Amino acid sequence: MKVIKFRNRLVLSAMAGINDHSFCSKFPAGMVVLGGFSVDEESMEASKKVAKRGRKEFIFEDPIEGVKAEIEGLIKTYDGVFAVNVRSASEKGYLKTAKLVGDYGGLIEINAHCRQPEFIEIGCGQELLKDPKLISIVEKTSKVCPTCVKIRGGLSLDYKKLARELKEAGCLMLHVDAMVPGGNADFGLVKEISKEIFTIGNNSVVDVYSAKKMLESGAKLVSAARAVLKDERFFERLLEDELLSSHTVLLIN
Ligand SMILES: Cc1cc2nc3c(=O)[nH]c(=O)nc-3n(C[C@H](O)[C@H](O)[C@H](O)COP(=O)(O)O)c2cc1C
Repeated sequence: MKVIKFRNRLVLSAMAGINDHSFCSKFPAGMVVLGGFSVDEESMEASKKVAKRGRKEFIFEDPIEGVKAEIEGLIKTYDGVFAVNVRSASEKGYLKTAKLVGDYGGLIEINAHCRQPEFIEIGCGQELLKDPKLISIVEKTSKVCPTCVKIRGGLSLDYKKLARELKEAGCLMLHVDAMVPGGNADFGLVKEISKEIFTIGNNSVVDVYSAKKMLESGAKLVSAARAVLKDERFFERLLEDELLSSHTVLLIN
């Protein structure tokens, strides 16, 4: 039995074009998520289109080499748990990245979350939530790398069933963006999914109260993205709280 140790409950959530190694290593979070990265030719073409219309994206000539350089940069200065958020149009892209990330002791985070049309068109991001391909990807990546899946709430899906199926396929962790269209986070969804699997609760965490509410809903970890862009010391402020600064572990069979 292996153990992943988290020195506190905080996670820096993925932000494409922003979460490179130097950005991620600035934060005292127990886990940071590098990327999102597009790791095969087709998804990289989609990234280029997205960048062309003004959104931040990581553009690499050779995506696998690009991800490798980011991991090597990160582990020089950051000693917490890291994950790499990944989009790919092919199973091969996920598998190649999983092998790489596994070799460096990280987790792969399969992006079943992104909803930019350029990624949806090629079957990436939240499109995977409707596709049995997701299970087969997880079955393969989890053999070579601890696997997390980032999902989005607010869709008409049986989330409990999805969580069970992903767990059975080898997924260790679900990163749940519990977004409610036009609203706050859906803590009920976090509660429901956390009964099935180890979760990271995400969306609209802006202070100690909202971060603790994620944990009280059953999540083991809590992540933030936008709040960190607003305040670089956001995690330091959360770490003043006893529960948020407490360690936890994830057991791997
Ligand atoms: C600029 C930006 C880029 C993002 N890029 C990604 C991404 O590449 N992959 C991903 O899974 N989520 C991405 N997200 C979503 C965040 O990780 C997070 O799930 C979402 O912003 C809700 O959390 P928050 O309320 O703490 O911001 C991005 C969010 C922002 C603001």
